Amino acid sequence: MKILTSPTDAVKFRKSIKSSVGFVPTMGALHEGHLSLIKKAREENDFVIVSIFVNPTQFLPGEDFEKYPRRLEADFEICRRAGVDAVFTPTPENMYSEDEILIKAPKVKGYILEGFFRPGHFDGVLQVVNKLFNIIRPTKAYFGKKDAQQLYLIKQMVKNFFFDIEIIEGETVREKDGLALSSRNIYLSEEERKRALSISKALKRAAKLSSSVKETKQIKEEMLKILDVDKLEYIAFVDRDFNYIEKIEPNNTIILIAAYVGTTRLIDNIWI
Ligand code: PAJ
Repeated sequence: MKILTSPTDAVKFRKSIKSSVGFVPTMGALHEGHLSLIKKAREENDFVIVSIFVNPTQFLPGEDFEKYPRRLEADFEICRRAGVDAVFTPTPENMYSEDEILIKAPKVKGYILEGFFRPGHFDGVLQVVNKLFNIIRPTKAYFGKKDAQQLYLIKQMVKNFFFDIEIIEGETVREKDGLALSSRNIYLSEEERKRALSISKALKRAAKLSSSVKETKQIKEEMLKILDVDKLEYIAFVDRDFNYIEKIEPNNTIILIAAYVGTTRLIDNIWI
């Protein structure tokens, strides 16, 4: 497995490949969620490239950029075992320059929900994914439904900027009890982890209810009874294009939650 540490090396490596490239962008601290995307990429492409880069521009001041888990050696081992061909691990210094051209997330869909509570977050995500796409020039790129709004915005960017890349969606991987896997779960104490479970439980209950109850307001009330979090940022009902909806649309609805358990901010969603 090749380890590419600079954009120049990565571009050179990419140029040597004439067949299909599957690309999985990550911030590392790899878990089964990431691995499911890597496995899918392995099945569908001749070459698989994973990037590991804790991208500073998508963290807001006061967020967990400094304490975000960094475990490069363990991540390399996971990638090796999964048959990854190359890992791209650039530094902020070789990815960014001063006063550079900036990508802006769309004014509406990039500034609601996650974008409302983390203003500018998606500008940073799109900035780095744009760079990564240009460096890696993947045939297919893999993103998880766990970050539903990110997935939607990346698809929009591909469309708006005419990237010749197919975006492949991966299902959310969960612990046996339902907790969505996240690199941030390690921040949770035992007691917090128990209460964090109320998020996936509320979503599961909502999905079940939605077969008979169509009013999102009514479903939200039931979800609030289950949730045991410290600060709820949002429960939202949107269609697959991230328009708010008041009535459940079968096969076109995403229910999303963002909440703090202790000092850890968690997001999860369910597609119905
Ligand atoms: P990161 O949080 O490391 O996630 C990398 C990819 O793994 C994303 O596409 C995310 O949706 C997916 N993922 C995370 N948890 C998952 C789970 N439980 N099941 C399935 N997929 C899961 O998302 C980012 O990094 C960054 O914003 C990035 C796109 C790399 C840009 O910096």
